[in-house]
Amino acid sequence: MNLDIIAGTRPNFIKIASLIYTLDKTKKDFPELQYRLIHTGQHYNLELSGNIFDELKIPKPHFNLNVGSGSHGEQTAKIMLGYESVLKTSKPNLCIVVGDVNSTMACAIVASKSGIPIAHVEAGLRSGDMGMPEEINRIITDSISTYFFTTTKQASKNLNKEGTPLNKIYFVGNTMIDTLYRFRKSFKKPKIWSELKLEEKKYLILTLHRPSNVDNDLKLETFLKDLSEVCRDYHIIFPVHPRTKNRFKISNITNSNLHFIDPLSYLEFNFLVKHSLCVVTDSGGISEETTVMRIPCLTLRENTERPETIDIGTNELIRTTKTDIENSLNKIINGEWKKGEIPELWDGKSADRIVKILIEISKNES
Ligand code: UD1
Repeated sequence: MNLDIIAGTRPNFIKIASLIYTLDKTKKDFPELQYRLIHTGQHYNLELSGNIFDELKIPKPHFNLNVGSGSHGEQTAKIMLGYESVLKTSKPNLCIVVGDVNSTMACAIVASKSGIPIAHVEAGLRSGDMGMPEEINRIITDSISTYFFTTTKQASKNLNKEGTPLNKIYFVGNTMIDTLYRFRKSFKKPKIWSELKLEEKKYLILTLHRPSNVDNDLKLETFLKDLSEVCRDYHIIFPVHPRTKNRFKISNITNSNLHFIDPLSYLEFNFLVKHSLCVVTDSGGISEETTVMRIPCLTLRENTERPETIDIGTNELIRTTKTDIENSLNKIINGEWKKGEIPELWDGKSADRIVKILIEISKNES
């Protein structure tokens, strides 16, 4: 069975790392399970793309579509054209897409129209918010996928409710967490640690990149000033995503406890998370990682496609208001924040389960 594995953005690389590691381990027992790695180039900066391949020991992609930035339409179209030309060289038996980014949806559409079955890793997540491009990507990808690998039972239920037959849905756990477990002993102290003389639980981490949080300058500026004031006794480390950097004049904010830094590498970022007081973010993936590391996570969104991080884990949705930030911080400082549990099957073995199932599928198909 020949597989195409698609990855285009930083969270994709984290999710495929464990899958590729497991496939490589399995190669000697099942040499018929071959893969090609296709990097769409949606993320291309060294910080978002290059470093992570080395850190997570992901082999060099067989193809790089080099699509780069653009509007959603432009980016999606370029990825589709690029993947279509890869398929002209040869077609795989199965195309594996992960997550919910434009690369996921674009390649799923191309594979589907070329008659190639699709396996979606992290299928079935739903926020119910069609204002988010990721929700559109999830729904379209799931509507044309053949096999569905889910991170939670709720995601499996969502799919089944939409008409996906149960025998195509495999609850396997979370490959992003496989990667976290595999590399947790290699987390690296970033240089900001010694520069600011950071101490355990004496700082917060902030990450923001969603249009709803970063596209309105005034809203972002007010939030940053409020956060910095409420957390005046703590350092706030803010690795700035390129999307945010491109839009926002950082020089408008001069609060001395707020530190704007370049995006950190995966190993450095997770080192900081592990030792932080809490993380304030609008990312979905980070709320899963903080749940596993049992670090309080304040998510600046009105909804989430990952309810387990709230019901089981350490995550809460908050508004960007001073009151919400203050209440949450007080709870954390007073030791009243929930400790959280680790969701079922987030045990570091999800990629093993996926590869076993792929072998079964390949036997049944041949
Ligand atoms: C994408 C995903 C989002 C994911 C995020 C993780 C979609 C719809 N969104 O959002 O789900 O959480 O990645 O980071 O696919 N840019 C650079 N260098 C890069 C990449 C991007 O400078 O390497 C800048 C460009 O100006 C670009 C902007 O960031 O226009 C946005 O990048 P894009 O990949 O389109 O979306 P993200 O906001 O990163």
